Amino acid sequence: MSSASLTADLDAVLADANVRLAAAVDLDAVSALDAEFLGKKSAVTAAKKQLGQLDPADRKEVGQAINAARTTLEAEVAAARDRLAAGARQAQYEAERLDLSERLNEVRRGSLHLNTQARDRLEDVFVCMGFTVAEGPEVETAWYNFEALNIPEWHPARGSFDTIFVNLGEPEEVMLRSHTSPVQIRTMENTEPPIYIVAPGRTFRTDTADATHLPAFNQIEGLVIDRGITLGDLHGTIEAFVHAFFGGDVKTRLRPSYFPFTEPSAEFDISRDDGSWLELGGCGMVHPNVLHNCGIDPEQWQGFAFGFGIDRLAVMRYELDDIRELVNNDVRFLRQF
Ligand code: DAH
Repeated sequence: MSSASLTADLDAVLADANVRLAAAVDLDAVSALDAEFLGKKSAVTAAKKQLGQLDPADRKEVGQAINAARTTLEAEVAAARDRLAAGARQAQYEAERLDLSERLNEVRRGSLHLNTQARDRLEDVFVCMGFTVAEGPEVETAWYNFEALNIPEWHPARGSFDTIFVNLGEPEEVMLRSHTSPVQIRTMENTEPPIYIVAPGRTFRTDTADATHLPAFNQIEGLVIDRGITLGDLHGTIEAFVHAFFGGDVKTRLRPSYFPFTEPSAEFDISRDDGSWLELGGCGMVHPNVLHNCGIDPEQWQGFAFGFGIDRLAVMRYELDDIRELVNNDVRFLRQF
């Protein structure tokens, strides 16, 4: 073995390694080339073993050539590894990329719940007629929920309210309000007439939920106290509200009824497409006892009041089949409005 042929072999190995490392397509291929060109059975390892057989004068030079070839091969293997590792990382990034841009095509913004939309609209209609919006607590005492509204303890009407009582104080003294009418009392106690208010809010009864009832529902109470107010003002106000809320074609009617807090009292219906009537709520002229209970002189002031179910108004307006849709929280339903 001459030193010239040894170095020629090394040059050939380097040229071969250079081409094949550049062509390697993955890290496994580089590892195989690493073993082939730098491992125990590689040409450089074999060349090193043959150094002893060379003419001593040539050994140093050939030894340096072998070391230089080894260094070059190691650098090329490392470079090939870097190149493929960077490529693999890039491929992984691509594969695992979360493409959030697809969400942009379908911007899903939340919307106000139907009850909120109905309540806002009701408030707007009444504010346009000169009413202000009043509020009261959801937990009430017997005085506000019943007594001041001319429903004393012995009165059979108390039973019809299916009241949910709260275990506080005397039995049946504290309750979740069963209607928004207590806000009438609180307003009259604190405000000098004339009074023009509406009071939307949550109300509660022991009812079992069905297609037309919810145990927690929403009402809007109206109260007008002024001089010379008549039943005609009541009917005109309700009619104006219905037309503003539902549009022109809806007909309204008052049906004689009974509530302890109004005299006379009426139930209030609106016409449906099929010609039938739907009961929306109660109304009437404020009973003199109620005015008296709030320190207002019934000889000087008269007024009317009404109370409608907001959920029922929403059912009518948005043509729902079942009032429970309003509380099922099914986004497929809610998203339609
Ligand atoms: N509070 C009554 C109820 O929940 C509805 C009602 C009837 C309210 C007549 C009124 C009214 O203000 O005058 O059944």
